[in-house]
Amino acid sequence: MVYHIPALLRESIDGLNIRPGGVYVDVTFGGGGHSGEILKRLGEGRLVAFDQDEDAAANAFDDERFLFLDQNFRFLKSNLLFNGISSIDGLIADLGVSFHQFDEPGRGFTFRQDAPLDMRMNRSGKVTAATILNEWDEAELAEILYRYGEITGSRRIAKELVTARNRKPFTSVIDIMDAIGKLAPFRQEHKFYAKVFQSLRIAVNHEMDNLKEMLVQALDMLNPGGRLVVITYHSLEDRIVKNFMKTGNFEGMEEKDFYGNSESPFLVVAKKGIIPGGEEISANNRARSARLRIAEKK
Ligand SMILES: C[S@@+](CC[C@H](N)C(=O)[O-])C[C@H]1O[C@@H](n2cnc3c(N)ncnc32)[C@H](O)[C@@H]1O
Repeated sequence: MVYHIPALLRESIDGLNIRPGGVYVDVTFGGGGHSGEILKRLGEGRLVAFDQDEDAAANAFDDERFLFLDQNFRFLKSNLLFNGISSIDGLIADLGVSFHQFDEPGRGFTFRQDAPLDMRMNRSGKVTAATILNEWDEAELAEILYRYGEITGSRRIAKELVTARNRKPFTSVIDIMDAIGKLAPFRQEHKFYAKVFQSLRIAVNHEMDNLKEMLVQALDMLNPGGRLVVITYHSLEDRIVKNFMKTGNFEGMEEKDFYGNSESPFLVVAKKGIIPGGEEISANNRARSARLRIAEKK
């Protein structure tokens, strides 16, 4: 089974504008597809890769320019400083989950196969999807469905989830379909379940907070002229990245100096972002929702 097929590989690595001899970071190593390309262009430089999933460590390269850290990218800065790196020339983040995480039986990331309701990327974390479904308040469930899944009718769904868990606690993927299947819009069942699973996954892994903290630290660590390259897979993540690259904050509030010039710390390289072409999508359908954003630190 293939560990992962990287999305927008050439476009994203071109976007890093690699300077041979520079210091680069891949905060979402996975199967190492993006890292492998960086190494090809790196010359005598250094590449540090992060992945919080212990399974990714098996893909680490045996290369003296390469360092793998089994850490959450939320702790980007402290990990780099600890390893003697005080500034970087570029950072790539390819967010979300790998094919391996989706496809490996038993991790519960997808509604397409029954498995225990886990969804932790880092399996030493305490909270699983089952914890959330069985223990969180109805209002908290409605909130994550609404915020992270952008689902209409989130309160009704949360109510059904609570009714179901009072009959029998949630343990496996199929329990979700049994509990809320009747609320799934006709012929849009897959989209509906995908949104429910996405919201649980984001909550289990604190994905939004991790992303924001990493972006702030990336800005701090990047040298002037250094590139920030991020691939997102849904609109929530994309909005955060787009606003941050445009303005340096997550609200997208543009600050201007006395003369009306933007005070954003970045120059946005591809304004609308870059999406995969038809050829890439036919070869790798899971890349269809990818959007690449690139910015250069001023
Ligand atoms: C889409 S995959 C990356 C695939 C990779 N670019 C490749 O070419 O194989 C995302 C990876 O990022 C990791 N990940 C997600 N959030 C993370 C975080 N906060 N800290 C560290 N790793 C994270 C996941 O465990 C997963 O392996």
